[in-house]
Amino acid sequence: MEEKIIKIKEELVLELSKVTKEAEVLNVKALYVGKKSEIQGLLASLKDMSVQDKKKYGSVINNTKKEMEELISIKLESLQNKVNVSFDDTTDYNLKSGSLHPVTIVAHEVTDILKRMGFTVVSGPEMESEYYNFEALNVPKDHPARDMQDTYYLSNGMLLRTQTSDNQIHAMENYGAPLRICAPGRTFRNEDLDANHENTFFQIEGMVIDKGVSIENLLYVMQQVLSEVFHQQVKVRLRPGFFPFTEPSYEMDMSCLICGGKGCPTCKNSGYIEMVGSGMVHPNVLKAGGIDSEEYTGFAFGIGLTRLAMMKYKINDIRVLNSGDIRYLKQFDVD
Ligand code: DAH
Repeated sequence: MEEKIIKIKEELVLELSKVTKEAEVLNVKALYVGKKSEIQGLLASLKDMSVQDKKKYGSVINNTKKEMEELISIKLESLQNKVNVSFDDTTDYNLKSGSLHPVTIVAHEVTDILKRMGFTVVSGPEMESEYYNFEALNVPKDHPARDMQDTYYLSNGMLLRTQTSDNQIHAMENYGAPLRICAPGRTFRNEDLDANHENTFFQIEGMVIDKGVSIENLLYVMQQVLSEVFHQQVKVRLRPGFFPFTEPSYEMDMSCLICGGKGCPTCKNSGYIEMVGSGMVHPNVLKAGGIDSEEYTGFAFGIGLTRLAMMKYKINDIRVLNSGDIRYLKQFDVD
């Protein structure tokens, strides 16, 4: 039944694409939604169906009919408008195209660099289950790390992902080992907003799993990425950190390019800004992804893409990035 309904609509779309005159559209209309049309027949057949089938198909058929009628009126309108519009070539049309958002620009840059190193770009859902966002990443329900990543819990039992690390599990499940992926994407946290915190921001995740992978490989990749993005050898410092999904874990900070390391609100007066979380993939995470931790090791990293864009373009307030302020976005015009 569903297939039949889809087919009728597809046929209508095809017929509408062929016609160019109002009268022809009216013919198509009579044929497809008129009294003797197939969809009308289906509607009539509802009365002989069981209560269950009525429930199941009633709204599908009705909605499809409405959609078909709408397609027909859109086509009619477009033909009627055509008659009235004349082309005025004296008008100065503003054909300027828009610009890429600074976060998109750095996302492209980082993925390009990683692609050259053999990483595959993947993406995961922004609405995620607790399992992929936390549990499979070695963050059980009562783990204190959940406090630091409070987020928006949805009424359907899902949440808005707090990190792109969910991609680690999806990738291991989908591709197994060996693995080399990166995953840029939007992430969310229940944050108090200030110059350095937003409830919506971007990260890029990276994960490499193979035989004999070590911290050296991770350092090399990070150094390459940051130096290429900033077109200079940037000053980085590595601190021991804690992430439940890596062991050992590291925080990689970069000298703040906004204040030149002197201290400003963006770097909380420390002269450094936290840019990358990283470490060696925890055996429990490999296990959750179905990978034998005796045979394989891996490293993972999460780079704050929003932070990266702020550093690269010396943007001192994170809130401007989601503001949609055209005056500000225009600076990144590619024309
Ligand atoms: N997901 C972490 C965060 O949002 C960042 C991170 C840390 C990602 C360590 C990683 C990692 O892949 O290994 O704070």
